[in-house]
Amino acid sequence: MNDLFLRACRNEPTERRPVWLMRQAGRYLPEYRAVREKVDFLTLCRTPELAAEVTLQPVRRLGVDAAIIFADILLPLDAMGAGLHFAAGDGPTFDRPVRTAADVAALADPDVERELGYVFAAIGEAQRGLAALPAERSVPLIGFGGTPWTLAAYLVEGGASKHFGHLLSWSFEDPRGLAQLLRRLAEVSARYLTAQVDAGAQAIQLFDTWGGLLDAKRFRELALPALRIVVEALRDRPEWVPLIYYLNNGAHLLPELRDLPVEVLSVDWRLPLDEVRTIVGPGKVLQGNLDPTALLASPQRIEEATAELLRRGGGGGHVVNLGHGILPQTPPEHAQAFVSAVQRHALAPVG
Ligand code: CP3
Repeated sequence: MNDLFLRACRNEPTERRPVWLMRQAGRYLPEYRAVREKVDFLTLCRTPELAAEVTLQPVRRLGVDAAIIFADILLPLDAMGAGLHFAAGDGPTFDRPVRTAADVAALADPDVERELGYVFAAIGEAQRGLAALPAERSVPLIGFGGTPWTLAAYLVEGGASKHFGHLLSWSFEDPRGLAQLLRRLAEVSARYLTAQVDAGAQAIQLFDTWGGLLDAKRFRELALPALRIVVEALRDRPEWVPLIYYLNNGAHLLPELRDLPVEVLSVDWRLPLDEVRTIVGPGKVLQGNLDPTALLASPQRIEEATAELLRRGGGGGHVVNLGHGILPQTPPEHAQAFVSAVQRHALAPVG
């Protein structure tokens, strides 16, 4: 098996740096769109054979060094009774947004094995698919979820939002009430992510897409305690799995993350990795951080941008990735140019 990714997460020296892409299974791939022509997004998530199939698509096509299970961060919120929909072309919407203490109290406390069992079945199915690939193509499988704060951002707004007015006004008006919601989300996430590990996920990534909305003090007081509940639940397990915390738009929050007990810190492109490293110290492996729009430029430019990324990330453990999800309009050959440029860097020493 190609276990480069897991060794890099442990901060062991590796013969080259591993590479995978956030949102690597998705609409930029024609083979994904072919599956989506037949089923809607939530049906795809809830059908383990299909979810496993699209999980493997980027592994087969691009030869990335890790797979990530096909699912969505919002699925546990549906299991909590919020009523999740994805309308064609629009983002997610919830029938029952949560904006008051009574709304929090009305949320269900789901039996994750029963309500989200399809995700765990997909993980098992994807692991069988990965095991059947040629050894050098067989890669570790990442499970994932949203952080409590980022889950709350969607649940309180009732979907995607430009200004997050409901969420942020609640955070000023009644931070304790919002903290109650974050705690509920943390408890469900802890069970959901632990079950992903039990089902065969070999690493867990926590997506904090909206963490950067908060200033450092409010991040520390509101978002971090709930995040810690999730991280500590995963730490408190006999099986060691690396934890990856992804923070978008949060360069101002990096000093808050030095002591978070995760192996890997995944960052957006707004600060170069050598500067991130001086802030968070040598103890963290970094993941990232090519601007996803760079993949819309020519392969020649992509190679140049990748060389620069490898140079700036080379001062310590580095899992190469984008700084946010790959864009749907990315030509697959451009994604390939990025992955190949990293993998050709094989004999260059890390560090
Ligand atoms: O990385 C992977 O390939 C695994 C699959 C994955 C999806 N969503 C599938 C998906 C992962 C890791 C996610 C994470 C996710 N989902 C995040 C965090 C990462 C980020 O991008 O910030 C967030 C915020 C969501 C919530 C979500 N899901 C939104 C806002 C949307 C609509 C907008 C969009 O990006 O399309 C989704 C839908 C979604 N999730 C799609 C996919 C492939 C597109 C659905 C389709 O096929 O039409």
